[in-house]
Amino acid sequence: MTQKDFIPNLEPKNISPGEVSWQSPSNIALVKYWGKKENQIPANPSISFTLDNCKSTTTLKFSKKDEITGTAEFDFDFYFEGKQKEDFKPKITKFFQRIEQYCPYLKDFSFEIHSENSFPHSSGIASSASGMSAIALCLMDMERKLYPEFSDEYFTKKASFLARLGSGSASRSIDGGLVVWGEHKDIEGSSDEYAVAYPYKVHEIFRNYKDTILLVDKGEKQVSSTVGHDLMHGHPFAENRFRQANDNLKALIPVLESGDTTEFIKIVESEALTLHAMMMSSQPYFILMKPNTLQILNKIWEYRDKTGIPVCFTLDAGANVHVLYPENHETKILEFINNELVVYCQNGHYICDHVGDGAKKLYF
Ligand code: DP6
Repeated sequence: MTQKDFIPNLEPKNISPGEVSWQSPSNIALVKYWGKKENQIPANPSISFTLDNCKSTTTLKFSKKDEITGTAEFDFDFYFEGKQKEDFKPKITKFFQRIEQYCPYLKDFSFEIHSENSFPHSSGIASSASGMSAIALCLMDMERKLYPEFSDEYFTKKASFLARLGSGSASRSIDGGLVVWGEHKDIEGSSDEYAVAYPYKVHEIFRNYKDTILLVDKGEKQVSSTVGHDLMHGHPFAENRFRQANDNLKALIPVLESGDTTEFIKIVESEALTLHAMMMSSQPYFILMKPNTLQILNKIWEYRDKTGIPVCFTLDAGANVHVLYPENHETKILEFINNELVVYCQNGHYICDHVGDGAKKLYF
């Protein structure tokens, strides 16, 4: 499907006021998206595990504007955790502007958007993936009422397409399991426009992989992802990095099939460190890791060497550490975290998560 396919070309049905609710998870990338072109097109393909416990729950209330008194502007109020939030509105207005040509009905309605996160607001966990995908799903649910003829496949693809226009990584939060966003020559059906469920065989070990998120620094990031992506333009290592991401994704295909955790760890940890190396070597340069991030990485390496348990880390654009490991080592790893890593977490906080099934519609 191409961009054009996401522009409705039928007359919309008349719909009465209503509301829809969706729950959408966060995700953690194994091969990272870092760098983009115009219109939220990624510079390289990425793959992520969809999470389960870290999620946003969003309700969209809609009613058709009065044809005479209604304005030709976007009309919405945004509530986060029950409170009206004016400061979130510019981000949503920008999102609406980006998707308007694919959702031409947006200005015909008045909306109320209510959103909440399962994880603490100030945890430093990216909420844009779960938040933007949840809004995209709610809009698609309303769109399905306007154009009842479209298919489930269209629904999922366009939800991911719209989510991508809100935040790139949000495109990977619709489906469950492993999800690929960005065209890769060895991954059938992959696209720059939307994410797809990873289409090949996945070893049992990766089905319920655990991700314990160590909250090292809950503060606001000094440099946003959007600014970081932008710094990949003219970055001296950009082309090699984009090639490396393509190579790493290709190398993951047999690893995901065989369940080879040694190779998995090599790729995933290298991706995390390369992401931060790109930040450190951009102009201006910056560092998002904290001293405690490095303490944790060293402890994980030491523990892995000592026990042979295939535990590894990955990092987002921040100081928090995602500890990844197979389900059958959960007891041991939680013991390790509590005994040796919790001291490096802000207020001793961490979040236990695992691979999930993707976004869900809520019925009240
Ligand atoms: C480091 O999706 O937050 O988490 O498209 O500008 O909203 P925008 O960026 P965003 O970038 C996420 C980058 C990352 C890596 C990843 O999730 O692949």
